[in-house]
Amino acid sequence: MVCGQDVIAVYRHANALYAIDGVCMHQGGPLAKGKIANGTVTCPWHGWQYDLATGNNSTTCKPMLKSYKIREGNGVIEIDLPG
Ligand code: FES
Repeated sequence: MVCGQDVIAVYRHANALYAIDGVCMHQGGPLAKGKIANGTVTCPWHGWQYDLATGNNSTTCKPMLKSYKIREGNGVIEIDLPG
């Protein structure tokens, strides 16, 4: 989803919701189209991997992408955007 100038990828994985930046730090791949496994999204373009909970690179653990607080209630999903 696009929120202002941010692109945010939202995932439901293992009964939890996650929201991280949706643009890969490598060359801008679309992370919302990446495969999910074991709490990690793999970029569909060249395979960089990010932790869904933190946005950190899954190999180096370095912070790479913003992660957003996300919650669901009464059929509505809400994301805390930086203000
Ligand atoms: S653009 Fe995502 S790994 Fe290259």
